Parts: sequence; structure tokens; C-alpha cells
Amino acid sequence: MMQHAAITGWGMAVPERVLTNADLERMVDTSDEWILSRTGIRERRVVGPRDTTTSLSVAAARQALETAGLTADDLDLIVVATCTPDQFLVSEACLVQGELGGNAAAFDLGAACAGFVYALSTATQFIRSGVYQRVLVIGADTLTRFVDYSDRSTCILFGDGAGAVILEASDEPRGMLSTVLGADGAGYKHLYIPGWGAFVPESAGIFPEYRPYLQMNGREVFRFAVTAMGDAAVESVSKAGLEFDDIDMLIPHQANLRIIDAAARRLNLPMEKVWVNLDRYGNTSAASIPIALVEAQLAGKLSEGANIVFVAFGGGLAWAASVVRWGVAGVSRLARKTDDTRVVAAAAAS
Ligand SMILES: CC(C)(COP(=O)(O)OP(=O)(O)OC[C@H]1O[C@@H](n2cnc3c(N)ncnc32)[C@H](O)[C@@H]1OP(=O)(O)O)[C@@H](O)C(=O)NCCC(=O)NCCS
Repeated sequence: MMQHAAITGWGMAVPERVLTNADLERMVDTSDEWILSRTGIRERRVVGPRDTTTSLSVAAARQALETAGLTADDLDLIVVATCTPDQFLVSEACLVQGELGGNAAAFDLGAACAGFVYALSTATQFIRSGVYQRVLVIGADTLTRFVDYSDRSTCILFGDGAGAVILEASDEPRGMLSTVLGADGAGYKHLYIPGWGAFVPESAGIFPEYRPYLQMNGREVFRFAVTAMGDAAVESVSKAGLEFDDIDMLIPHQANLRIIDAAARRLNLPMEKVWVNLDRYGNTSAASIPIALVEAQLAGKLSEGANIVFVAFGGGLAWAASVVRWGVAGVSRLARKTDDTRVVAAAAAS
């Protein structure tokens, strides 16, 4: 029988430190009114000296394991979507595993803000093919470490955080029902961090204090995002064999409220069916969709069998969309190494 990859656990973590629009008014020439009307953001969470991509990922992962009733020993694979790993050697996934324990396969995946949906797609293939039974997928970024806080066009947008889900094999159509992935590498300079990697620009050599910063052409990214998010979301619904009316919740990448509005209009969805939290977190890159997912779940918005659209865009330029069916139906307790009754109880109650 064809295996599906149900989401059986979820967790999120954000740093404690809050950076409000009023704080930014004191740092650059901007205003709360401008930021709110152009983006929808009121405040964001920003890493403090002790927060790292790893610490946020581990906190989110521990919650996800707990809700799934699993331990790290039960995992077959850990995939971390991030463009801000704490180190390049070793992978963020290995750093996370070092804290969690276990010996699952572990690797990172880079697709910037579209990374979580890319990683979920990748992990789902491992389960569908029967290779693995239980996978931890994390979306985590600490982009504020690369934000130039004298550049008003970028510093207002970003926040930090991590979100995690556990995928488990299911006999029922749960988890990803469709996947749409794409990229346009010709546009990479519209959103990138020059010098953050093995290649460092020659000009950096003369500045010993050289630090790479995120650079963005906001108007180009905006234009790209409105088209890419709308097209990908629409395609994901038709690939899943569903109509717009069948969609219970849109969980979009949280970059700009105007971009989210445009995507919701393309799917003909009222804003009550769209999870928006960028007012509190800003753009947390690969973490934004799993954080929003956890909040929607905690708010009681997701019931067994609900059809959710995930859609994201970001540096690459890359985009990704998927219809995900919520719930744990068809997940076999017998297949687990850890004996836990919660999933079975939840499935029975649905
Ligand atoms: C960045 C963004 C909010 C800018 O909004 P916009 O409506 O496109 O604004 P513009 O870039 O056209 O700039 C309009 C004016 O506001 C100014 N401005 C830019 N940032 C400002 C700020 N923080 N405060 C006040 N004024 C600002 C600009 O300098 C410009 O002034 P000018 O007309 O005198 O040149 C918007 O383009 C955007 O969200 N783009 C997508 C970015 C994104 O999502 N990136 C992450 C992808 S994962």
C-alpha cells in the first residue's frame, strides 16, 4: 500500500528579545506607520547573545517529539531547512542531533524562505518510497545576524525563529497531497548575502572587519512574490485534485501582508481562512510556515482531515507550495519504537 507522510508532531521557538517598530524608529529613518502600512509588521523576535539557529531548532524539535510521543532514538532522518546554519562544517542537522541524541540520517537543505516546504517535500518522498518511517523536519533561521541595521529597506522585515514537524508513515492520505517546487536562479541577486560562504569577494580582503549583509531589491522581490505565490498556490490545489472551496486554511510564508492578501485572493479565500502572524514575528525565513502551523493548531483552527495550503517564496529566487491534509489517521502505533497512545487516541477521536 502507498504510504503517506502524516504530520504527527509540531513545535516552535522564537527568541525572547522583541524589536518593535518604535525601536526601529530610533535606529533608522522610518516610522511605525510606514512599516505597518507597507508590510503589516509591528514587531519581530531577534536573537540575543545566547540564541543560535541550533538552540531555536532544538527547542522546536523537542516540542515536536513530545507532541508526537517520540524520542530522538525513534527518528530515521533529520532535515533542517536553513540559510543561516551556525556552521557550514558540520551541517545544522548534525548540530541539532548532537543535542537531541540518536543516530538518524541528518542533512541540511537550502531554499531560503521556501526551505521548509522544500524540506517537507523531500522528507515526504523518503516516507512514500518506504525508505523511512519517521522524519523530523525543521525550518530555522537567524537572518537578523546578517541584517544591516542601518539599511531601513531591509532591517524592518526580518525576525528569527524555528519551527519543526514530525512526519510519520500513514495508510491514509494525510500530509502532503501535492507539491509544487520551482526556482529562477537568474534572479538570485534580488535577495542574497554576498560573501556568506566559501567565496568571499576580493574587495572584502581589504576590510578586516568585513561582515556579510543581506542585500535585497524589494520591488523586484515583491513583484516576483505576488506572481510566484499565487501561481504556485493555485497549481498545488489543482494538483491535489481539489477545488478552492475544499481549502480550510492558507498558511503562507510571512513576508508581507500585501503579498499574503494577493495569494489569498488568487485562492478566493476570506482572510479568516488565512493564518497571519507576521505582525508579531516579521519574516522568519524558513521558520515562518511551521511557526504559523503550530499557532493555527494551538488556536484550534486545524481539525482532522483539514486541507491546508502551504505556499512560500524567497531567495533563489525559489518558490514552493503544497496542499497538506491535517491529522494522524492511518498512523500505526505498532510501527513505532516508542509505545505511545496519544496518536492512537487522537485518531480514534476523529
Ligand atoms: C521592502 C518593501 C516593504 C518596500 O515597500 P515598497 O512599497 O515596495 O516601497 P519602495 O521600495 O517602493 O519604497 C518606497 C519609498 O519608501 C522608502 N523606504 C524604504 N524603506 C523604508 C522604511 N523602512 N521606512 C520609510 N521609508 C522607507 C524608499 O526609500 C522609497 O523612497 P523613495 O520613493 O523616495 O525612493 C516591499 O517592496 C517588499 O515587501 N518587498 C518584498 C520583500 C520581501 O518580502 N523580502 C523577503 C522575501 S523572502
